Amino acid sequence: MSRAPTGVLFVCLGNICRSPLAEGVFAHLAERRGVRAHFEVDSCGTGGWHAGEPSDLRATAVALRHGIRLTRVARQLNPERDFGRFHHLIAMDRSNARHLLEAGAPRDRVRLLRSFVPDDAHDLDVPDPYYGGDDGFETVYRIIERSCAAALSELAPADGPPTPPLNRPG
Ligand code: 4NP
Repeated sequence: MSRAPTGVLFVCLGNICRSPLAEGVFAHLAERRGVRAHFEVDSCGTGGWHAGEPSDLRATAVALRHGIRLTRVARQLNPERDFGRFHHLIAMDRSNARHLLEAGAPRDRVRLLRSFVPDDAHDLDVPDPYYGGDDGFETVYRIIERSCAAALSELAPADGPPTPPLNRPG
């Protein structure tokens, strides 16, 4: 039986560091688990300064060290289109989540990436590595990898009913 894919949108500030990593890692883990076709995976930034650019070279390098090729070109959040298309709006930090809510995202679809990991409840933000060094990218990669693994376990389809269609907000 075929079912409509579940839309998962990862959101950070610039869409050149954290959310492209989360998109790439989630897609890679889903592929490995044989459930890639169940998901439409994308990412975006709340800001548009880097729109049209490839991911930060440090993010590309850390992903490649872990066997993942990042190919996306940065884009800015498009509330009307994205809120009608993605079931899960997964923010990298609380500021990104606040931005989504202020832009009109349905509250029940906004989630922090680290909230999927019970042990991370004390620290819910994926730190922004942009102004730091390469070490920061490895740390961020590890946080993103364990969070995406937990997210995938929660969102991967059981043999239940298909994902219901989205109600358009507003
Ligand atoms: P990201 O990182 O939100 O993880 O893509 C950043 C990228 C660019 C900027 C800030 C954070 N910036 O200020 O240009």
